This record gives sequence, C-alpha cells and structure tokens, in this order.
Amino acid sequence: MSDRIHTLSGYLYEYQKSVAQPEEFWAKIADSFYWRKRWSKVLKWNFEEPEIKWFVDAKLNITENIFERHLFTIGDRPAIIWEANDPNEEGRTITYRELFHEVNRFANALKRKGIGKGDKVIIYMPMVPEAAIAMLACARIGAIHSVVFAGFSSTALADRVVDCEAKAILTSDGNYRGSKKIGVKSVVDEALEKSSVETVIVYERTKQDVTMKEGRDFWWHDVIAEESEQCVAEEMDSEDMLFILYTSGSTGKPKGVVHTTGGYMVYSQYSFDNVFQYSEGDVYWCTADIGWITGHSYIVYGPLLAGATTLMFEGVPTFPDCGRFWAVVEKHKVNIFYTAPTAIRALQAYGTEEIEKYDLSSLKVLGSVGEPINEEAWHWYHTHIGKNKCPIVDTWWQTETGGIMVSPIAGITPTKPAYATLPLPGIQLCIVDPEGNELTGNSVEGNLCVKYPWPGMIRTIFGDHERCKQTYFSTYKGMYFTGDGVKRDHDGYYRILGRVDDVINVSGHRLGTAEVENAINEHPKVIESAVVGYPHEIKGQGIYAYVICDMTNRTEDNLINEIKEMVSKIIGPIAKPDKIQIVSGLPKTRSGKIMRRILRKIADGSHDTMGDTSTLLDPEVVSQIIEGRK
Ligand code: WT7
Repeated sequence: MSDRIHTLSGYLYEYQKSVAQPEEFWAKIADSFYWRKRWSKVLKWNFEEPEIKWFVDAKLNITENIFERHLFTIGDRPAIIWEANDPNEEGRTITYRELFHEVNRFANALKRKGIGKGDKVIIYMPMVPEAAIAMLACARIGAIHSVVFAGFSSTALADRVVDCEAKAILTSDGNYRGSKKIGVKSVVDEALEKSSVETVIVYERTKQDVTMKEGRDFWWHDVIAEESEQCVAEEMDSEDMLFILYTSGSTGKPKGVVHTTGGYMVYSQYSFDNVFQYSEGDVYWCTADIGWITGHSYIVYGPLLAGATTLMFEGVPTFPDCGRFWAVVEKHKVNIFYTAPTAIRALQAYGTEEIEKYDLSSLKVLGSVGEPINEEAWHWYHTHIGKNKCPIVDTWWQTETGGIMVSPIAGITPTKPAYATLPLPGIQLCIVDPEGNELTGNSVEGNLCVKYPWPGMIRTIFGDHERCKQTYFSTYKGMYFTGDGVKRDHDGYYRILGRVDDVINVSGHRLGTAEVENAINEHPKVIESAVVGYPHEIKGQGIYAYVICDMTNRTEDNLINEIKEMVSKIIGPIAKPDKIQIVSGLPKTRSGKIMRRILRKIADGSHDTMGDTSTLLDPEVVSQIIEGRK
C-alpha cells in the first residue's frame, strides 16, 4: 500500500500534512480504493448538530474493495484461517476467491428472503467464518448489519432487535466455548417471542436440537444450496449506513452507534495497515469477538480490505489448557498477535511453563486493546511472548471512533510501557480541563477530546440523534468528548487513564453503571442499588454493587446469588457483579443524588481519604457501609 508509513520522520511528516491539509491528506489515501463515483467534496462537517460527511456524494460498495479491487492478484491467498474451539477438530482456510463466492451465495440467499438495501439484520453467531460471511453479505446487498455478541442474554438481544427494527436474524444452533456447548438458537427463540422478525437463518454448528418455526426459520445450508456464486454489489452512497453496533453509555439503555460506508472503509484499512505494518504473507490474529468493534474493524473489515490473512479463533484462551493461544501461534505461524490486557493478565497468572512449550519465533508485532494495560502486564507480554524483540502497539480507541486513534506504529514509534504513545495521522487530540479549556503543552492531565473529524467516526446513534449530540458533542463545545481521562507526559506521549464517566470497563467490555443497576432493580426484593467499578487484578475493573433490599424471608447469601442470576439473565454473564454488599442506605446529597465518588472510594479501599462528607443527607450511612465492606 502506497500510504504506508515507514519511518518516524515519515510519521511526523504525514501527521503534519494531515493537520495542515486534512482534505488533501484523506483524498490521497482514498484514491487507492475503488469508487463507482468519486466524491464532490472530501468533507462537510460541523460538531454542533453534529453532521459529518466524508467523501460526499461518492458511490461505492465496501465488498468490491475487498474482492473485485484486488481479486486478480490475491484470489488464491488465504483470507480467513479458522481455528476451531477443539484443537482436534480440523480448521478451515478460505481463500479470497472462495470467500468472495461464499459471500455472494449468501447475499443471494438474503435477497431471496426479501432482504435488501436499508434493511437491518442482526447477527448473533459464534466465531465461525460464516459470521464474517454474514457481515459481508449484508454489506454486499446494502443491508445494515448489527452484530450482537453471542454471550448476551435473550433480553439484551430482544432490546436490540426492537431498537434497530431488525427484519432478520442470522444465528447458529449452538456454540462451543471451551468444554461447554451453549444453546444459541434457543436464546433467539426467547428473544423473538414478541417480535416481528420475519426471517431467521440458522447455521448448523453443534448439531444440537433446535425448534424451527415454519415459515420463519431456515437452515443456512438449505438457503444457499441453489444460489449462484455471483452477486452484483449494490451501489451505496458514501454516507449510507454500513452497520449499527450497540455499546453501553453512562445512562440508559445501550445505544446503537452508527458507522457509514466510505469513511469507515478508508479508516479501517488505513489504520490497520499502518499500526500493524502488515506485510504480504503475514498471518495476523486478533483474538476479539466479532460482536465488538475490534472484531468488526480488525478481524473483518480492516484486514480483508488490506488483503491480509486474518485468523479467526472460535475458542477461549484456557481450553483445553492455558497454553492454547501459544499453541495456535505456533501451529499457524502467527506474525501479528492482537489481544486484550485482561487476557494477558489472566495468562500471566499461570506462569511461563505453558509458554515455553511452544515456538513463538514467528511473532513480529504484539498488540493490546480495550483497556489500559498496566506496566507489569506490558513487561510480561514484551518479555515472555515477544521475547524482547516484538514492538507492542497499545491501541486506544472506541466503538464510536471506528478505528484505532492513538497507538505506536509498529517498529517505528518508540514505545513506553502503558502508553498508547501518539495519535495516528488525521487525529487531532485535545486535552481539556473540566471547564473545557484546552490544556496546551506537555506534562498535562485532563479529559480527552478530539477537535477535528476523522473518516471512521460515529455519525449518529440509531434513532436518537439528540442522544449522540448530548453524549459526545455537548460536554465541550466544538469537540468530540471521549469519556476518557488522559495524561500527556513530558515527551508529548499519551497515557489513557480510564473512564471519567459512569462507564466501567470489565475485561475490556464496556458496561454502564445505570444499565447494571436497572438489571439489579428488576429483582422483586431490591429497593435501590448503586454500582461502581473497582480495581480488579485480572479484569482491570470489577463490578461492586451496593444494594438496599427487603430481607424478609431471605438470607443474604441466597439473595446475593439471585441478584447475580438476575443480572446475568437480563444483560449476560459478563455483567454479573463481582461483589454485592447489602446496605441499609446509600450516601446521597440533600438533593437525592447518589454520591458515587464515596462508593468508589469504599470499593477500592481508599476510604481513609474520603474528603468532605458533610454535604450528605445522612453521613452516618457511610460508616455503616465501610463496616460491611466486602
Ligand atoms: C473504551 C472504549 C477499542 C475497542 C475495544 C473497546 C477503553 C480502549 C484502550 C487502551 C486504555 C482503552 C477506553 C475507551 N480503552 N482501548 N489501549 N488503553 N483504555 O471499545 O467497548 O468502545 O470501549 O475502552 O476507556 O473509552 P469500547
């Protein structure tokens, strides 16, 4: 790729150019893509509405940029290497040409079921190549996909089905996860009890028993059986929606982050190419799930647009044992490995014996994503996995940013443990104080904002543009607010300090405290609850819930278990509180607002430095809570 950065001075040059002449900068990058019609203007924007349009009036199809754009040169190259949950099950290798044909066949099947441009399709599937095929088939025909992580509960799935007005769901019979076999279709059935979804297509994975509803449910292998492997791509506007992906916020229900076609395409490939410095023949492995933005941008779209070989892993890091990641690296000679700090910390706890059994010499680049990586985990990763020869790219970004924003360029940017280092070209960061004043110069700390658009950014929240405006563009005027705290050190390097809002990051998964509280409050014995995050050795943050309950006819233990089950049922197992403390009251201000600052201090054990509690309605409640601390 011609827009590849090769040196540190090259990075600095590109960065300067991207700030001085952003439209020229992005136009040059966009030139290497295939557009059916070129843009009339590169960018139109304002951050007040907000209204952001990249490559205005251009027409394209993102899948033509994966397939037709370079099929003649890369048709026989592996696109996806799939590693099954069970190491004894044979994996699959799918070339670009084969993937192209599979995408087309499935796209034709979707069309035959009456699904077309603008229709919303939910994908609730395990990590099998068909999940990627499903995404690309939607994009091929202009349908908008919304992937829901297959670990979410039926209630969470039902909420998303309703919110995005899904016309179809693509799913599987079941899912293998470690030693477990989990029902997937049964969850869909529950979610669809009261819905108007017209079509459900079921991929057969585990061969477990499922109920198929006549006229609504069809098997994947049946619907593609007679379809042709040719399908002409639908022409899309650059700003047509490509996908909706739900993520948690500090208030209310999860929101559907909307990404559009042209800008997302350019940004996902550009960031992939540069950050990881992928070279032809490399095997690249990102361990995320396609249910998260990392899976969208860096398992599917970024690597496939770049013509890379992307490894997709169905299983978990600890099955059949905690050496599985390293066994996969050895088996497939993985060159670039991208994972989350929570996985690194979990594997770190098992020691190095399981690592030494494997040959990891193929590794060239290591990546980290999803949460701050602590220095100890960074060093462990660098020493034991990278053998002190692989640069670590600590990539900071968000569902809303579409792609990596702050990260070293592998092998080029000098790294510093726990620092995401420097912004990618085109990313104009800004650190502000609580009043919104920009903090210039180095050695400053504040809230992280972005003051100029980039192609991969969020366009709206599906069905609620006002919420998009309020959440991201109203806190600080004229800026996109990330919700993260950050420090810029004496070298100008960025270190992300974590969320400054009521969002908690559990094992790299984002959860809103309000969302967890609402789930807890569904329990009939719960009167009120307050949830905060606290430092957790493996997960980064754990969930601590303070709950006021009606204790009649209940013991504390069984109530706590019931509450955990309730949260698991309503959101999913990832949201289960780690600690639940039954309390008789919550610290509130005179106006009735829960003082989470105090609850956070108690949860992380730093209540000696509580500060002023005199504004509380009932200061006595604090000492009671401290006494019963978990
Ligand atoms: C939040 C976004 C980006 C894909 C996965 C998570 C935190 C993400 C880092 C990092 C420190 C990070 C931030 C951010 N975060 N990457 N490298 N260092 N923090 O996407 O679910 O949208 O969560 O994850 O707090 O705001 P997400």
